[in-house]
Amino acid sequence: MPLSLGRVFLFHFLALVGAAVSAIPSGWAIQRRADPESFIPLRFSLVQSNLDKLESYLLDVADPLSPNYGRHWSPAQVKETFRPSDETIDTVHSWLKEELEYAEEKIKLSPNRDLIQVNVSVAEAERLLKAEYYVYSGEVEGDLRVGCHGGYTLPEHVSQHVDFVWPTVYFAGPQKHSRRSATLNPSVAFGREGGASKIPIENLASLAESGCDTAVTLDCLRALYNFDFTPVSGGVNTVAEFDAEVYRPSDLNLFFQSFRTDQLNNTPTLISVEGGNPNVSGDLGEASLDIELMMGLLGPGQNLSLYQVAQPSSSLDPTDELLAALDGSYCAVSPVSGEGITDCGNKPRTNVISISYHFNPDIIDPSISPVVQRQCAEFGKLALTGLTFVASSGDGGVAYSQSHLCLQGNGTLVSGNPKGAFVAQLPASCPFITAVGATSVETGATTDQVERSTTDFPSGGGFSNNFPRPTWQDAAVQNYIDNFAPQYAPGTFNKSGRAYPDVAANGWPLVIAEGGGFVHSGGTSASAPIFASIVAAVNDARIAAGKSPVGFINPALYSDAFAGAFNDVVVGSNPGCQTNGFPAAPGWDPVSGLGTPNFAKLRDAFLALP
Ligand SMILES: *[C@@H]1O[C@H](CO)[C@@H](O)[C@H](O)[C@H]1NC(C)=O
Ligand SMILES: *[C@@H]1O[C@H](CO)[C@@H](O)[C@H](O)[C@H]1NC(C)=O
Ligand SMILES: *[C@@H]1O[C@H](CO)[C@@H](O)[C@H](O)[C@H]1NC(C)=O
Ligand SMILES: *[C@@H]1O[C@H](CO)[C@@H](O)[C@H](O)[C@H]1NC(C)=O
Ligand SMILES: *[C@@H]1O[C@H](CO)[C@@H](O)[C@H](O)[C@H]1NC(C)=O
Repeated sequence: MPLSLGRVFLFHFLALVGAAVSAIPSGWAIQRRADPESFIPLRFSLVQSNLDKLESYLLDVADPLSPNYGRHWSPAQVKETFRPSDETIDTVHSWLKEELEYAEEKIKLSPNRDLIQVNVSVAEAERLLKAEYYVYSGEVEGDLRVGCHGGYTLPEHVSQHVDFVWPTVYFAGPQKHSRRSATLNPSVAFGREGGASKIPIENLASLAESGCDTAVTLDCLRALYNFDFTPVSGGVNTVAEFDAEVYRPSDLNLFFQSFRTDQLNNTPTLISVEGGNPNVSGDLGEASLDIELMMGLLGPGQNLSLYQVAQPSSSLDPTDELLAALDGSYCAVSPVSGEGITDCGNKPRTNVISISYHFNPDIIDPSISPVVQRQCAEFGKLALTGLTFVASSGDGGVAYSQSHLCLQGNGTLVSGNPKGAFVAQLPASCPFITAVGATSVETGATTDQVERSTTDFPSGGGFSNNFPRPTWQDAAVQNYIDNFAPQYAPGTFNKSGRAYPDVAANGWPLVIAEGGGFVHSGGTSASAPIFASIVAAVNDARIAAGKSPVGFINPALYSDAFAGAFNDVVVGSNPGCQTNGFPAAPGWDPVSGLGTPNFAKLRDAFLALP
């Protein structure tokens, strides 16, 4: 029998943020102790090999000065390079076998060899993990989860081989998408970037007289970003939108009828993930906005795919379902229907994926950090194969999400913009994602003038606690910190963390058809698909020139060769947590990143690379 107690996740937490940890995540209530006789599929996400080299592997193919620029890896090479070592697999496997006295075949290694699953009784799980399992109910009726909020323990020799065990302390998003209330625990909340409240447009004809400061149409975006695009690569280029909400073809048609008649009756190509179906009833705001903008900007010559997820079906967030569908991560060997992930590496990859959702606050927390660090690595592994992930930076300024959560000294997140430390937002703050902040045209300004950071909501930006500052943004971010960063009390934000957003694009007030009429809509939710469309158009040009898609673009965007590819946004700020947040400034800043894109220059800079 073991063994010295190893990583005690509970105390890990106490040491770092000094909080009383036994608190149940808010939004969840204990229903009862879990029945000791009931069975749960316990999953051990194994530590992967060579993850410490992920960034340098990525730089090798993504640094514009690298001789291997654009030579993306094959999925098989990625799988082989990062798969857990035999020692890792053997250690966890033997420990489980010994502890459970189970037959070998009941302890199952996943096809990617990165996860071990074993079906154990709650009593066995509790003994194994020195934990107490409960059944929790969420705010949505019938949303029940099994977990052990009080923490769990692995023996030392095992813990060094395990990233995390689930289900345990991480509570993924609720099973319905319509919940974005301020009372939700941020660690379980997930939301879309809806921006300021929508405003109905009474008379579309009157828009003709409006400027792009009061009504942003596709023409405004084309003018602002020098985005004159006719696809030339002939249909092999791929781009997609990720959605957990739904759209109506009738809304797309209403939009196309006014702004893009050559797209009439077209809809995105559905790539259903975990049974996701855009025809079900649900919120229309996010998908209408994203799809109309992308199909509108790209036109019928460039297909748009839609990764449509269903309700989360496991104790993971919906982006993990997307990652699983793309490369089999998070998949166990023989998924049981209704539980666990069943779409495992069986869905087509696209060159660009736009994500306008957020799922976790970027705080150091034992229930969150191991999960989000693993997820970010999975994004990085896919980026290595040539995939660009674009995500909205959030609509809460330096606070987290539209609930404006700020981190208190005792480690808890409190909503409503209280004083407290700033909180970055995931997945945008993952360094392998290109994060997009929101801008608006200044009142009375034309599209020839550079926009400002939007004032209609505070555009998300700041510094990560979970991810250190990558080398490619070192100079740009240090310049901001040395010359422009406000002098906040130590601990208010993490100067050494990955800084975001990387770029910006318009986020308000876009003209969108939704629910049978036109509305002003937006948020960084809009900024991400706009920028993703521009990346897709860059890929089209590169593919036509016989080159690879751009893949991970951040190192290039920050490099000298791209200095002219952005309109530097210098006006605005992103208030939150009872501060003015960060002011925009010359060069990169944590509200508008490097600025808004100039498509023609961006395309030419990428075309100049191998
Ligand atoms: C787990 O094992 C129990 C007992 O053998 C069995 O009843 C149950 O169906 C199994 N569940 C899964 C998910 O394999
Ligand atoms: C778009 O997708 C459809 C359906 O997959 C396909 O038939 C069509 O050729 C594609 N068009 C282009 C331009 O890629
Ligand atoms: C959604 O509805 C359309 C129109 O009725 C139909 O063609 C399509 O197959 C449906 N999609 C799914 C996934 O059910
Ligand atoms: C943490 O501090 C906040 C603000 O001071 C307070 O509202 C909250 O109740 C505290 N939570 C715990 C668990 O101590
Ligand atoms: C700041 O970021 C670094 C790098 O990710 C991390 O190690 C450190 O814990 C963070 N500091 C705080 C206070 O979260």
